[in-house]
This record gives sequence, C-alpha cells and structure tokens, in this order.
Amino acid sequence: MAVAFPPDIMALSKVQRLYDACDVVFSSPGEATPSLGEIEWLRQLLDGMEAADVGIDDGEKQSSSAAADDELISPKSGRLLPALAFTRITYVHIHQCDDFSIGVFCFPAGATLPLHDHPEMVVLSKLLYGSVRVRSYDWVTAPPCSGAGFRGLARVVAADEVWRAPCEASVLFPRSGGNLHAFTAVTPCAILDVLTPPYSEEQGRPSTYFNDVPIPSLPGFAILEETDLPEDFSVAGAPYLGPELTVDMDDDDGYYDYDE
Ligand SMILES: [Fe+2]
Repeated sequence: MAVAFPPDIMALSKVQRLYDACDVVFSSPGEATPSLGEIEWLRQLLDGMEAADVGIDDGEKQSSSAAADDELISPKSGRLLPALAFTRITYVHIHQCDDFSIGVFCFPAGATLPLHDHPEMVVLSKLLYGSVRVRSYDWVTAPPCSGAGFRGLARVVAADEVWRAPCEASVLFPRSGGNLHAFTAVTPCAILDVLTPPYSEEQGRPSTYFNDVPIPSLPGFAILEETDLPEDFSVAGAPYLGPELTVDMDDDDGYYDYDE
C-alpha cells in the first residue's frame, strides 16, 4: 500500500502518528482486513508510546522523548491526568469514527474489567504503566449472536498472565489471540486500545459480558455464559488532555459512551 505522509512526519506527536497510521490502514475504501504487516506497523507505533503521549501522568519521572516531543507541538502539554486520581476504571476517549477507535482505560489498583468479547474486531493494546492480570479466551464454538443469551465452549489463551510495563503491545483477532478477556489491575495501570472496527450495537458488534465456568475434565477450556454486567460496575469518563489530534474530515467522531 502506498502511504503518503508529509515530509515532517517526525515533528508530529506520537498520538497523531498513531491516528494517521490507523486512518491509512483502516479507512481505505475497498480494502479487506488489514495485513499482518500493517498490524505490525501499528503495534510498533503503540510500542513507542508512553502515558505522557496521551496526556496522562503515570507518576514516574518523565525520562523519555515522549514529553519532549509533544511539548514542541502541543499547547496542551503540561496538563496531564494524574494516574493516582483514578479511583475507578476510567475511559479517556481520544477518537472514534466508523472504522476505528482509540482510547485509554485507566485502572486503580484492584479494579476489574469483567470478561467481555470483541465481535469481529481486531484490538491492539499497549500497557502504558503499571501491572495488570489478564485472563483471555478464544471461542471454539461459533461466537454468539447479539442478545442470544449465548453459552459456548472456549479455549484458554491466557490464564492469569500478568503484564508489567514496559511490555510489548498485544494484538487480538476475531478468532485468535484472546478475543475475550478480563483485566484486573495489580497496581494502578492504563491500557491504550485501538479497536477496529469499533463496538456498534447498530452494526451487530455489541459489547457482551460473560461468566467463565471451568471444565474439570477438560483443562485449558471453559464454558462461557453470557451475563449482565455486575450492577455495581461502571466506567467513568475523563477528558483527553494529550496533544491535539488533527483528524480526517471524513471521520465522524461519535463518542464511545460511558457513564460519567
Ligand atoms: Fe477489551
């Protein structure tokens, strides 16, 4: 694929470079699913990002070029969301269009994002700081239809694996890589997510939550049962304070709606 970037691309903020790359890879009319090479390109861009690149102060001394890069071009730099201020799971919305979404889930220590799926989606995730315990599955039986009260067999991909920043960005696919996952924050942590395409009830891609029931006679597999979200669970929203993003005029920025 021919990619036309401006010659001063290195002057762009890292989040702008990520957005531009997503726009090229995911918004091309007529293109099928992205190639592994394109996914790897995006994964490497994510790997170069730190909390300060998306307007979050992780409490560590900012060593890297991250802040320096963005200070040159972002009038908003210096205003950061402090990681320790998150007292519940908080979503920082950066961008959403029909083709992809970019945002950050910020966790206080001990918080759990329950087991959920990503129907027909590719998701790239970068742990920006902290440690998080991950449990993930892929369907063995066919993925559920929306609202079907589904129950199915799934294969364990990660059983209580702990990610500790800095670590490589991960990728999940519709049928592999752990399309269903749950996160429990071991320490305060944040995960930068790129979802393509985004969740959409209208397009048949709702977010569905599951209970997992181990099968004693079949280690490495579990029955997943669709469930309602726990009543006491909610995700807060916080404003994005990172470098300003210049988006494709064709993109509509529909907000990914969470409880405030
Ligand atoms: Fe997820």
